[in-house]
Amino acid sequence: MRISQRSIEEVREAAGIVEVASEFTALRRQGARFTGLCPYPDHQEKTPSFSVTPDQGFYYCFGCSRGGDAIKLVMDLKSLDFAEAVSYLADRSGVDLHFEGGGDPGATRERNLRRRAIHRALAAATAYYHKYLLRSETPEAERARRYLNDRHIELSTIEEFRLGYAPPRGVSGFVAAAGRLDLDRSILDAAGLLSPRGGERFAGRITFPISDRRGRIVGFGARTLGEAQPKYLNSPETEIFNKRDLLYGFPQVSEAIRRERSALVVEGYTDVLMLYQSGIQNAVATLGTATTPGHLRMLSSYTDRIHVIFDPDAAGERAIERAAATAADLKLDLRVLRLPEDPADWLLEHSPGEFAERLNDSVPVLEYGIRRIVARTRGAGATERSRAVPEVKSMIQEIRDPVLYREAVRIASEALGVEPTIFEAPRSDSSAAGAYRSIRKESGHYLREAERLREVERTHEAEREILALCIVRPDLSVELFQEGIRVPQLQENVHLEESDFVDEAHANIFAILKEYVGKDIGSVTSDPRARPFLDRLGELSQEGERRPSSEGAMQAAWLRLRIVSRKRLMRETSDYDVKDSLRAEVEALRQGVTFVESS
Ligand code: UTP
Ligand code: MN
Repeated sequence: MRISQRSIEEVREAAGIVEVASEFTALRRQGARFTGLCPYPDHQEKTPSFSVTPDQGFYYCFGCSRGGDAIKLVMDLKSLDFAEAVSYLADRSGVDLHFEGGGDPGATRERNLRRRAIHRALAAATAYYHKYLLRSETPEAERARRYLNDRHIELSTIEEFRLGYAPPRGVSGFVAAAGRLDLDRSILDAAGLLSPRGGERFAGRITFPISDRRGRIVGFGARTLGEAQPKYLNSPETEIFNKRDLLYGFPQVSEAIRRERSALVVEGYTDVLMLYQSGIQNAVATLGTATTPGHLRMLSSYTDRIHVIFDPDAAGERAIERAAATAADLKLDLRVLRLPEDPADWLLEHSPGEFAERLNDSVPVLEYGIRRIVARTRGAGATERSRAVPEVKSMIQEIRDPVLYREAVRIASEALGVEPTIFEAPRSDSSAAGAYRSIRKESGHYLREAERLREVERTHEAEREILALCIVRPDLSVELFQEGIRVPQLQENVHLEESDFVDEAHANIFAILKEYVGKDIGSVTSDPRARPFLDRLGELSQEGERRPSSEGAMQAAWLRLRIVSRKRLMRETSDYDVKDSLRAEVEALRQGVTFVESS
């Protein structure tokens, strides 16, 4: 068994040479490269001759002539062999390794051919939709053209970004045309071009082709012309389409990013297009996810100044904190700007010059984080304000970069109106990522307090209900634990897991009950692990006695907790596709509750 080539590539890409090398030596940015003192122990130097090129993924030392990629660096400096180094880096960057059995060159060839066919299918689909949009005489194509025109998207933009329109259902579309191109259904499916029913996935929608950094089309975002949900339907995750690593518009704007020495990250496809038309051609958009470390790494090969522009109501705000930690590690100047509306809409009433002016108001991400903490004490007296000090202080304490550290102290002391020395204390040497941990704790704050308390109460209630019933009716719980519940419209039976519980004691109790499924409460309480929870168990069994405990009631309680936990996940994710599929799941679960309660 050896690690597949694809995994090795993935690890190399995901690990990021700058981040890996930064573990061994301090790097400074110099244009598109980074330099530092050579980390090889037998090469002691006083002036830096170690150089790292992120867009190639390589390092080289001009002093001792050693060089290689991230894997090689780890092998050399941690004395690991190849496979160990790869799996070390895979762990660090969260890549799942795939292995292939003893050398099968045929399989690799097969895979490459398949990949090529997938790329070919996507390129052909792009051309087909594009041509249909521009040339078709059908009323639908007419309507699509009018839609884009009404939104002020110019023909040159449509051509440059190769926007298209997928023929509506019932019309012979790309799927039919693909047969003539020698592309079979399995390839179309692997390319994400088919709907779950086997028709054209994007039928009746405007298509926005999405390319990888090499300019190959890897998928689509597709907008409805009307009110259909979802507003944008994206390609499903495929072997070549991974939203978290892609940026809309990248190949079209990468040169401008290099030239302008800065990049804008916005949230919508249309924002990229409208900015582009206004002459602001260094903008890319995420694909319905927040800005990820992968996005920043990709941009960091082209520039070290990045502005992230938020919607006023974006849930993605929290993710900026994680991005901020990556930015610190990559030595990026990451700034944040909130506009009162989407850039696309904003630009309809404002000039590009005004936009450029607005950009000057963007705030360094670190300051943004500190201000968020400070904002909560706004309008409060000095005593109230001073309460924010420990929180801000612990955040500052974790900043590794000395320049950034001094800057943070200055910002914080100005914002809170206290002496800078208050924030200065023995430095801890943990990662920059820690700087944002304290902001992240704030994540619940986007829900209004009262609403949040109600939610906590509902959650607790749902957790107690199912546990209470399982305790009093072990006979009825066997099937639930073992089979779960079958719900129409869901492919898999509904199971509950520890992670569906928020309350830690509840989660523990659930885990123990699962082990003693079918047994009465006596055998449960005799397990030493149940000891810390005896009062809770007692309380729950009391509660269970008071409840009606039919099979239907138990199934309903089981599903209700699953609903609560799925909804929580839905609130927490900033990924629209995940949100959509969770919404559908919750809807199916609700129907499941109605069904089991009435049967
Ligand atoms: P917006 O709803 O702000 O879309 O979502 P937009 O691009 O401004 O759309 P217009 O101007 O109404 O046409 C921002 C981004 O979130 C993702 C898309 O990537 C979109 O560009 N998104 C949004 C989805 O993936 N699915 C959705 O249903 C909605
Ligand atoms: Mn938008």
